[in-house]
Amino acid sequence: MEKSRKVYVETYGCQMNVADTELVLGILSREGYVKVDESANADVILINTCAVRENAEQRVFGRVADFRTYKKSNPGVVLGILGCMAERLRKDLLESESAVDLVVGPDEYRKLPALIDGALEGEKGIAVKLSRVERYEDIEPLRTEGIGAWISIMRGCDKFCTFCVVPYTRGRERSRTLAGIVNEVRQLSVRGFREVTLLGQNVNSYRDGEYDFADLLAACAEVDGLMRIRFTTSHPQDVSDKLIRTIADHSNICNYIHLPVQSGSDRILELMNRSYTADQYLRLVDRIKATIPGASLSTDIIAGFPTETDADHRKTLDLLRTVEYDGAFTFKYSPREHTKAWKMGDSVPEAVKIGRLNEIIDVQRAISLRRNREEVGRTVEVLVEGESRKSAQDFCGRTDTNKMVVFPRNGFAPGSYARIAVERANAATLFGRHVVEETAGSMS
Ligand code: SAH
Ligand code: SF4
Ligand code: F3S
Repeated sequence: MEKSRKVYVETYGCQMNVADTELVLGILSREGYVKVDESANADVILINTCAVRENAEQRVFGRVADFRTYKKSNPGVVLGILGCMAERLRKDLLESESAVDLVVGPDEYRKLPALIDGALEGEKGIAVKLSRVERYEDIEPLRTEGIGAWISIMRGCDKFCTFCVVPYTRGRERSRTLAGIVNEVRQLSVRGFREVTLLGQNVNSYRDGEYDFADLLAACAEVDGLMRIRFTTSHPQDVSDKLIRTIADHSNICNYIHLPVQSGSDRILELMNRSYTADQYLRLVDRIKATIPGASLSTDIIAGFPTETDADHRKTLDLLRTVEYDGAFTFKYSPREHTKAWKMGDSVPEAVKIGRLNEIIDVQRAISLRRNREEVGRTVEVLVEGESRKSAQDFCGRTDTNKMVVFPRNGFAPGSYARIAVERANAATLFGRHVVEETAGSMS
């Protein structure tokens, strides 16, 4: 390449997509591309997409329309669609969207440099094969320097929850090696990152020969005692007692588990193919709370799955009240073509879905508020992330239980740990100030 091409990537969807964008930038930077933060300067515009719900796709179609207009005055620009929508819609995307030059699925990113070369010559490109082996183990993601880093430890999902498109867009489950991941944690520690989040659609089914996810977590935690280790997402079926113990035994493995339940009704859970009952889930929650004192839990809930009745919905509300999550991500059921649930129809009327969703949100907000208010008067340890969004006078950071805390800057540096006395709280954030430690033997 005579001069370096500029690439702009816009990312939608889950954290795995955020990590994949870093991977794509890693692949392209090896070829001399430079990343730019605005599409206006770019030679190549890539949209890394999500297909999990209809509205996620609508947003991307909106962006494609924006870039179609942009290309009219900048005809040389290459527009590529990556990720889960590329995998789901394949050549339909190229055929229906004239502005799109490239369609590349999650297991084909190595082909991007060649496909972009072709597109610059006016040749449209598509690569959407799913792989049973691709792990991108040898590719170094292009990360922005900061406090936290993502590490994909596995790709794909074999759970086939009946509502979910991910097994179709991401293919079969495959894990990276424990040694490779631990090595990456080590390098990130040397570079000054203070937190890593291990990512997978279901991290608990991680496996490398005889090593399971608990072994991986322990190995990562032992790299650097000051480095926080997080992970997401956990499928309830595979949370072992060994895993719970491992979290409890390592102070730098965060006491926070995102444990999506989806519904509180056994009938709906069965239709979803979630492989647990509400009671089994609650017993798991009890084991977690008994072994990890102060453990924080969050969840995902779907409102309005096919055939869901008011009684089913109330079971979900009951479960929320029983578990007392610190937070919940809540979604209206969105039918996805080719999934099993698609064939069940979309029987819950939109207005009912919205009503149930709002009720779930209200119940959970009250619980989150109460849980956060319990923190008032306590001292929490916060990993300082940087300036608070609302005020340059304040810093923000998270507790080990993933609660956001805002406090006066007070000479702290991002990446350091601060002890903060919590003074007030709302449902989303704790507010406090720095505790001045009494050092033993100091003069008063
Ligand atoms: N692998 C993760 C979740 C991936 S998708 C897990 O199993 O927890 C994130 C969330 O999106 C899911 O937990 C689910 O609550 C929601 N979701 C997935 N498909 C959906 C659909 N068709 N309609 C509505 N919500 C959906
Ligand atoms: Fe989708 Fe279920 Fe896999 Fe999560 S575990 S990605 S919800 S199929
Ligand atoms: Fe969306 Fe794909 Fe993630 S469908 S949620 S970007 S795995």
